[in-house]
Amino acid sequence: MSALKPVGDTSPNVIEERVQTYIDTQANLDLLRFITCGSVDDGKSTLIGRMLYEAQLIFEDQVTSLQKDSKRQGTQGGDIDFALLVDGLSAEREQGITIDVAYRFFSTDHRKFIVADTPGHEQYTRNMVTGASTADVAIILVDAASGLLTQTRRHSFIASLLGIKHVVLAVNKMDLVAYDQAIFDQIVADYQQFSEQLSFNTITPIPLSALQGDNVIARSTHTHWYQGPTLLGFLETVSLDPEVENQPFRFPVQWVNRPSSDFRGFAGTVAAGSIVAGQEVRVLPSGEQAKVKEIVLYQDRLARAQAGQAVTLTLDREVDVSRGDLLVAAEAPCEVSDQFDASLVWMDGDEGYIGRNYWLMLGSTRINATLTEVKFKYNINTLDELSARSLVLNDIGRVTLSFDQPVPFESYQACKSLGAFVLVDRYTFSTVAAGMINFALRRAQNIHRHAHVVDQSARERLNGHKGRVLWMTGLSGSGKSSLANGVEQALHAQGKHTFILDGDNVRHGLNNDLGFTDADRVENIRRTAEVAKLMVEAGLIVITAFISPFRSERDMARSLFDEGQFVEVYCDVPIEVAEARDPKGLYKKARRGELPHFTGIDSPYEAPETAELHIATGELSLEESVAKVIDYV
Ligand code: ADX
Repeated sequence: MSALKPVGDTSPNVIEERVQTYIDTQANLDLLRFITCGSVDDGKSTLIGRMLYEAQLIFEDQVTSLQKDSKRQGTQGGDIDFALLVDGLSAEREQGITIDVAYRFFSTDHRKFIVADTPGHEQYTRNMVTGASTADVAIILVDAASGLLTQTRRHSFIASLLGIKHVVLAVNKMDLVAYDQAIFDQIVADYQQFSEQLSFNTITPIPLSALQGDNVIARSTHTHWYQGPTLLGFLETVSLDPEVENQPFRFPVQWVNRPSSDFRGFAGTVAAGSIVAGQEVRVLPSGEQAKVKEIVLYQDRLARAQAGQAVTLTLDREVDVSRGDLLVAAEAPCEVSDQFDASLVWMDGDEGYIGRNYWLMLGSTRINATLTEVKFKYNINTLDELSARSLVLNDIGRVTLSFDQPVPFESYQACKSLGAFVLVDRYTFSTVAAGMINFALRRAQNIHRHAHVVDQSARERLNGHKGRVLWMTGLSGSGKSSLANGVEQALHAQGKHTFILDGDNVRHGLNNDLGFTDADRVENIRRTAEVAKLMVEAGLIVITAFISPFRSERDMARSLFDEGQFVEVYCDVPIEVAEARDPKGLYKKARRGELPHFTGIDSPYEAPETAELHIATGELSLEESVAKVIDYV
């Protein structure tokens, strides 16, 4: 079936000749990317193995040698195919994600294929998301004997979220149920009912036995009741969706190319639409306009470039363009916003909390983003919307995100490459979620900051001192409140304007809806930090006394303030000392199991690594500790 078979004469000349013939025929075939999804025992590997074997297609080692050969010959046709093959992988590597997805390449006389083969275990949703993000078709494998599983629904839902339009419901292991049509029909009916809420254009159910080869490539003699296509027949003929070429021009700038003072080009890959020399473009987010002077590809000047092409653009005048900016068709610019509604697939063992900050990678831009709301998460089996305050591994939810800068964007639905992003943990650097932008929040566009004449510095002049925050952190019983009290008295005596925000007090009022789960502690600190910020703007020296156990939230609090305004004070006592003091009897309660999530017992405390002040409150007297803080201030 294929022009290249992994057999026969392997002398260099013969291989080279075969490679050339192969490349010539392949260059004209279109490419279909698909993903196979299934649970561990659904027979995914068997199916892929069967397809590769029956069609006598190229195996991976041949792909490698083919790649080498075609490079040596400098044949562009060959390069393109295999660049595509490794595309997905290198993009992930750039972001430091380790993902276990094997991309296999094969071809028939009708089409070229790239199949993303992903491990099926539940914990590998991450792999499935990666494989599916570029796929045209998803093959959802179902074991005929088991019917639909949660995993089937999860994978289908993710495929739909990621914009895959065509699904094959591959009902496998039909040989184990005696090729019973009733069983097949029931699974199809169940699936159709479930997928009514999903956005697939076509669902093609096929009864299969990957092991026996029924309806994979050859039509089965056991399923006379089935008139539809075989699996490979379907893959060879399914019509691909129109390209992104007809959309307005979108070009994310990957880097600014300035080899000499008289050349300044902007390199990137056209994400959507096309561009011709002379066309007017707008730079986002700045909004500046210019005409494209030249479209450069290596030594050549092109008249036109279209979606998918990597080129360098030069402009007819000096405008400010930097990495991460977007060049768009001037007559059809896209929106710019800093608050979004998005869908998230949570892929990390660490929970995602409302109020927490993440790095958000959108194209080549890294943005500081806060998860501001979890609107709901889905019950995967029913697609019901469940209320939630956090997201855990494999959860799929709708959230709102707020960025610390406005960015140009497209919804994922309008343009996959501009609407897709990942969230990265700022401490572990692991990718915690994959996301898709749904729309910008209007509220972001209708709220504007007012600048008042009497501002912080005016108030500070009146007070005769600067506003700042002294952020005490430490275990319960570490002496935060006592230290805060002592420091406030000393400052007050000096005529300073002060205020104490104490955990136990604030939790009686503003935060009386919050408990001690991780999610509630994140919110507790977020609100407290915002209040502290307002008070510092009011010109006060604010002293906070909260356990504030997570580094992430202390850093978030710090990020709200200017350099030098935020002083982190680590009240450091060994847990044994705090427990021996036990001023409120809470450690005893916690040890008896009557107080769940108690910090230091069954809830973590992440000690500061770079606090401005480190005070051993277990060893120093209160006066000595107060003196240390006052000295610093
Ligand atoms: S934080 O973790 O969210 O920063 P916060 O400082 O507001 O905590 O409140 C801590 C105080 O609440 C403790 O000093 C203690 O008196 C009380 N408390 C009640 N339950 C807990 C708990 N499970 N863990 C820690 N502190 C608790």
